[in-house]
Amino acid sequence: MLLRVDADRLRADFDALGAIGATGDGGVDRETFSAAHLAARAWFHERATAAGLETRIDGAANHSAVLASRDPAARTLLLGSHLDSVRRGGRFDGALGVVCALEVLRAVQDSGLDLPVSLEAVDFTDEEGTLIGTFGSLALAGRLTSDDLAGPRCGRDLLVAELARMELGEEGILGARRDPASLAGYLELHIEQGPVLEQAGIDIGIVTGIVGASSFSVIFEGAARHAGTTPMGNRRDAAVGAAAFVLGVRETAANGFPGCVATVGNITTLPGSFNVVPGRAVLRLECRALSSSRLAALEQALIERAHSDAESFGLDVTVERVGHVDPAPTDAQARSAFESAATDLGLTTMELASGAGHDTQSLAAITPSGMVFVPSKGGVSHDAAEETAWADCLNGANVLLNTAVRLAEDTRRQRAAS
Ligand code: HGY
Ligand code: MN
Ligand code: MN
Repeated sequence: MLLRVDADRLRADFDALGAIGATGDGGVDRETFSAAHLAARAWFHERATAAGLETRIDGAANHSAVLASRDPAARTLLLGSHLDSVRRGGRFDGALGVVCALEVLRAVQDSGLDLPVSLEAVDFTDEEGTLIGTFGSLALAGRLTSDDLAGPRCGRDLLVAELARMELGEEGILGARRDPASLAGYLELHIEQGPVLEQAGIDIGIVTGIVGASSFSVIFEGAARHAGTTPMGNRRDAAVGAAAFVLGVRETAANGFPGCVATVGNITTLPGSFNVVPGRAVLRLECRALSSSRLAALEQALIERAHSDAESFGLDVTVERVGHVDPAPTDAQARSAFESAATDLGLTTMELASGAGHDTQSLAAITPSGMVFVPSKGGVSHDAAEETAWADCLNGANVLLNTAVRLAEDTRRQRAAS
């Protein structure tokens, strides 16, 4: 039996959410724990309550709505994504998955189906890494460690200040861990954030795996000197080393590691004055690959390039890894359930890997997890121009709904057979 989401209710919710933190150009700015982010979470909580669903907030500030099974021994099927955004991002990234997860609970509730699993729609904390990427899902998966909290890529001082402001403590955060035995799995709907589905003319992307990523702080040290009196040949200009390295990052990844990516997302030169030769340049470097071995090899190649660029310009360099998330394959049964649901709905599908990181990769470590994409117009994301056709959003929601029901019924059959 195929279920359908309430399209009007879903559209009204998606549009209402998109107005929270709106930047006026179609995007949103809801960085973690900003006023807009907190308003979006309060909105989610209010919508869940209005639907008569149980609501929860765990020690990592993950926000959940729950449709409990009548079976007291039932495990929980998690569905969700994230309501935080990158700075001046798009209104679909994460938000679509959370709103559709909530809608799945309401559609099942409306259908009167009593599933052998509880359904829980989760808005995970800080997926985008304003503080620590996939913070909330790593905590729920029991994979966030004291070391992660001690050396976050946002810097320890900011993390301590933000956690204090949100009244979150280390014990509560680490205590957000869920017993994997209590979970029946995790499903996430997300926009593709790339061009593949649109170019292929395919409705639904079945995600085979999610890239691993490593983040580094790269610091070139030279000598700050008077910009007017220091001859060009007598400089140890940190900005020049940084510039060479940025080009080297592109060359290393593009020429030596097809299918992988590496990015310098930020450069700060110090002291940062017109009339001082920069003595220091601090760069934020990130690289991604679908396999752990390729990621390790890419990391090594980039580190070696940093040292050779430093040597070329008489500089010192330090490279410190400040973040890492493992590549994560998705679960075969979840992929199959997504495929069947999409096909039953008359939708075309293809398998693809995810070049973007997601909460799914945290959950994949502890419970069978699956992910589906819907097309992104022009492959644009992490920008106000991010756009997915509403018909595609609706397709994604109906695929998520019918996959959740299918997997729930699978657990009923598995229990009957055991
Ligand atoms: O960075 C990512 O890949 C994700 O959008 N957080
Ligand atoms: Mn996302
Ligand atoms: Mn994102």
